[in-house]
Amino acid sequence: MNPVNPFASKQKEDPRQAAFAAFIADDASVQELRQFVSNLGIPKAHVARGGVDAAIEHLSRAEKAPERLVVDVSGVAFPLAALSKLAEACDPSVQVYVLGDQNDVALYRTLLQAGVQDYLVKPLTADALRHWLSAADDGSVRRLRSGKVIAVAGTRGGVGATSIAAHLARFLTEGKGLRRVAYIDLDIHGGAGSTLLGMAANQALPEVLDNIDRIDSAFLDRTLTSKDGRLFALAANHSYGDMLSDANGRIGALLDILSRHFHYVVADLHDPGSVMADEAFSQADIACLVTDRSVHSARALSRLIQHVESRPRAPALYVVANAIRPATRGRVDAKEFAAAVSHPIALDIPYDNRWPALAEDLGEPLASASDLAKAIAKLGRILSGEAQPQPAGGFNVVSWFRRSA
Ligand SMILES: Nc1ncnc2c1ncn2[C@@H]1O[C@H](COP(=O)(O)OP(=O)(O)O)[C@@H](O)[C@H]1O
Ligand SMILES: [Mg+2]
Repeated sequence: MNPVNPFASKQKEDPRQAAFAAFIADDASVQELRQFVSNLGIPKAHVARGGVDAAIEHLSRAEKAPERLVVDVSGVAFPLAALSKLAEACDPSVQVYVLGDQNDVALYRTLLQAGVQDYLVKPLTADALRHWLSAADDGSVRRLRSGKVIAVAGTRGGVGATSIAAHLARFLTEGKGLRRVAYIDLDIHGGAGSTLLGMAANQALPEVLDNIDRIDSAFLDRTLTSKDGRLFALAANHSYGDMLSDANGRIGALLDILSRHFHYVVADLHDPGSVMADEAFSQADIACLVTDRSVHSARALSRLIQHVESRPRAPALYVVANAIRPATRGRVDAKEFAAAVSHPIALDIPYDNRWPALAEDLGEPLASASDLAKAIAKLGRILSGEAQPQPAGGFNVVSWFRRSA
């Protein structure tokens, strides 16, 4: 062991725990920023040479997401494309500041709308940095980036709302970057969603509602259940007859908070007529209404659409038709059904005779050969804006993060 050297500079901080991380394109600016950081006494700072790719690489290895991230997009031909890649990899709670070399007001405006805190044409000055830090500290941040809230409800029990919500949540964590997704089951008597995801129904929902004023990343990581650090579940396991006390009025706030920590929050509303569901519809960016093609569901769906569309902040609405039984002759066809409810069907999911029940019982993902799995993948791409809904055109899904209200 080396003898302790009293003159050695204090131990270097671990960059994986940085609260402030910056990736700057040229050496001179890196040196300059390091100097500012040290002059301003910014704790847990990591300043390195690089750009968006280095930032993504850093995030993938970070033990804790930084609070603030500065990325330099100088020389990048398509800064918006690069930054949406970053958004996929970056916890929505991270405040992102962008440096660049294009003095372009349109770019500045677009970046702010996309959830970036500020855009500054280089060079970064000590004053600007101080302003960024204090703006964040006094809570006067112009806008917080937030993930999308997707509310899923069925026209009646058994149409596949839970299956679609849970498999969708799982799908949204797959592949791309390091997306984090929360699945929240509003069937407070131990709904099927957790089982379907291979987790036991926890009591995270009442716990986060009781502590709504002090929710932070650490609290969420402790309280929510996750098997892979990407998909997190919140549920309640109340006895029949027991209610979730005082949940009303707080579900909206909860979804808002969760959307700052997860790229997607999928809420399985269970009972679309409940007060909790009502709040969820008002808070959601997207409502996904699941229906079978029965006469009863056509009626229920029409009323439900009307209800959702008259919420104070109505979400974008997608109707998903799901066949939970094999097709029978004389069944209303998709076109007739859409005409009857006066709303396009974004996706028609076929009957899948094998995989849904198996996946549910085993708590495992659907086999890739499963028709339901293929349909969920399509739905995920539609909702994230990568694919068009079934009847082409008409929809324009916001690119990465919803604009703040
Ligand atoms: N496309 C489908 N094909 C076959 N079975 C399905 C399909 N979608 C859902 N199911 C099955 O239907 C049943 C009810 O689904 P569930 O998601 O619990 O409905 P809900 O939440 O609307 O009450 C489950 O057993 C599920 O596996
Ligand atoms: Mg259900």
